[in-house]
Amino acid sequence: MIIAIANSKGGVGKSTLAVHLAAWLHEQGHSVTLADCDTQQSSSEWIREAIPEVKTVRLDNPNDILNELPTLGQETDFVIADGPGSNTETSRALLLRADFAVVPCKASMLEVRALAKATEVLRQAQDIRAGAPKAVIVLSMVGKNYRLTKDMKDAATALNLPLTETAMTLRQIYADAPGQQSVVGQLGSRASEAAAEVEQLFREILPEAYRPHHAAPVTQVTGS
Ligand SMILES: Nc1ncnc2c1ncn2[C@@H]1O[C@H](COP(=O)(O)OP(=O)(O)OP(=O)(O)O)[C@@H](O)[C@H]1O
Ligand SMILES: [Mg+2]
Repeated sequence: MIIAIANSKGGVGKSTLAVHLAAWLHEQGHSVTLADCDTQQSSSEWIREAIPEVKTVRLDNPNDILNELPTLGQETDFVIADGPGSNTETSRALLLRADFAVVPCKASMLEVRALAKATEVLRQAQDIRAGAPKAVIVLSMVGKNYRLTKDMKDAATALNLPLTETAMTLRQIYADAPGQQSVVGQLGSRASEAAAEVEQLFREILPEAYRPHHAAPVTQVTGS
């Protein structure tokens, strides 16, 4: 399954979400590739340091994305494609190949109002592909006392995009994690709320990928 993390707006939390989703899927026992489709290449570097078992590839031009994503999609259970913050052609290629799109959106009225523009290439792809890729909006960098106002729900409904119930809260630990070569789940008790939040989010958006009883493969012990 190829999952694109896409919003043609910059700095909305795409790479943070992509790296945590790749880490969570790996933790559930799936094989995972992180396809870094941003020329800044921050997410591939981050996941390589945090979870070296996740395969990484850099695909930062539309041709490579169109040509190589399907093959990559067959090599591992999941490909998480971290989209760029501005290059529309790269996002377009990604959304023409993805099975599912996760659209992080900052939880401010201005951002939500700009959502129609930010999701234009997604709608074009859905139009061409008879509704694919299926997509959800995840509110990101949500303030503590935030309430999902009717306006925000209306904006998402108008675009025919479901909003996840779980949002990603604005927390310093998310911004600190790459500097610690880690994802929040590796940062102990000071990151426990963030770790619980991403776990809940990913179970909500990918219930079929959740493996409650997964344990790491047992290493064979020889002798007695
Ligand atoms: N939930 C959060 N709480 C606090 N800081 C966050 C959160 N999510 C992301 N950040 C920080 O906000 C900045 C932008 O996030 P990120 O790089 O994930 O966005 P992006 O959409 O990938 O950006 P770009 O479009 O430039 O690729 C980073 O400094 C990141 O550490
Ligand atoms: Mg990014």
